[in-house]
Amino acid sequence: MNKTLHRIYIGIFFAVGITSLFLLIYHGVDYYSLQLEERPFDIKHDLLKPSGYIGHGLGIIGTLMMIIGVSVYMIRKRMRVLFSFGYLKNWLEFHMFLCSVGPLLVLFHTAFKFGGIVSISFWSMVAVVLSGVIGRFIYIQIPRTIQGKEIDLEELQNQLEQSFTSSINLNNDIRSKVDSYLSGERYRNITAVNSLIFIVRDMFQIRKLLRSIKSILKTEKGLSKIEVVETINRLKERLIMSRRIQHLKLMHRLFRYWHIFHLPFAITMFVIMLIHVGVTILFGYKWIF
Ligand code: HEM
Ligand code: HEM
Repeated sequence: MNKTLHRIYIGIFFAVGITSLFLLIYHGVDYYSLQLEERPFDIKHDLLKPSGYIGHGLGIIGTLMMIIGVSVYMIRKRMRVLFSFGYLKNWLEFHMFLCSVGPLLVLFHTAFKFGGIVSISFWSMVAVVLSGVIGRFIYIQIPRTIQGKEIDLEELQNQLEQSFTSSINLNNDIRSKVDSYLSGERYRNITAVNSLIFIVRDMFQIRKLLRSIKSILKTEKGLSKIEVVETINRLKERLIMSRRIQHLKLMHRLFRYWHIFHLPFAITMFVIMLIHVGVTILFGYKWIF
């Protein structure tokens, strides 16, 4: 998938997600904001209650989206015959799309009342979605090829050397500033507990450093605007790559812990949801069937 196609792919996901949210709020806000005891007297009740034509439909479609989002990604990731079928990275994006819009539809299916045993399924779903966002953050800290495969440490170090020595023309002053910033010392005290906060803080510090370097470069003669931007972009790439190398082992460890946390909530959600669906069918709720 080239860059433009990828932008369209992600753009469609965002458009579908935002349009769904807008339509659900636009058509339902007056009903969902009523007190529970007032709802049965509202004109929209028969449509939007959890067993209503739309409310029930939202539960079914949202659940199907989550089932497809999880199973398609897990199958693509594990089955050898499918390894050449699209990049894993793009399938993960598909997983993230279906598994965020699906829960959104289920949220409106509940009509914002979370009673009974099925509320365990609901809160597990919330936990999986939130942990998904954290997992995605850790995932992008581990350098990967465009296909989504991990790059090994030696290859990374080679890339770093090439990108720095071949293309950036810096004076000694700036170079020593950058080198001192990149010294491994900085990353030595990071633990699994403080790492996420550290990385977020580091992002801001890198941005600040680049801003100050940019203003120094701008005053240098002989450098065009485009050259300044290119130099800054390459430096940014190097700073981020260097941090990722320093963090690699820790991120692998965190990602392993993260899987241990993410999966049980997903299983709990699906198991209780199955019981919930079984019970509703037993009570005669069959939607359009
Ligand atoms: C993870 C997925 C789901 C969650 C978290 C969920 C959650 C809920 C919640 C919180 C309620 C309201 C309970 C109450 O009135 O206090 C509800 C009601 C209901 N759900 Fe779901 N649901 C899910 C999926 C489904 C699916 C797939 C179906 C149908 C196949 C379904 C059918 C129903 C029906 C018919 C009701 C109304 C029951 C009644 O009024 O007694 N749900 N659900
Ligand atoms: C109800 C919603 C969700 C469910 C049930 C769910 C379930 C899962 C499961 C079962 C896996 C393990 C896949 C495997 O090991 O093959 C997984 C992986 C993952 N999910 Fe989700 N997920 C949900 C939402 C999300 C969201 C909203 C995001 C991000 C915004 C996300 C990001 C990830 C990431 C980064 C991985 C790791 C991929 C890998 O290790 O290859 N998930 N999810």
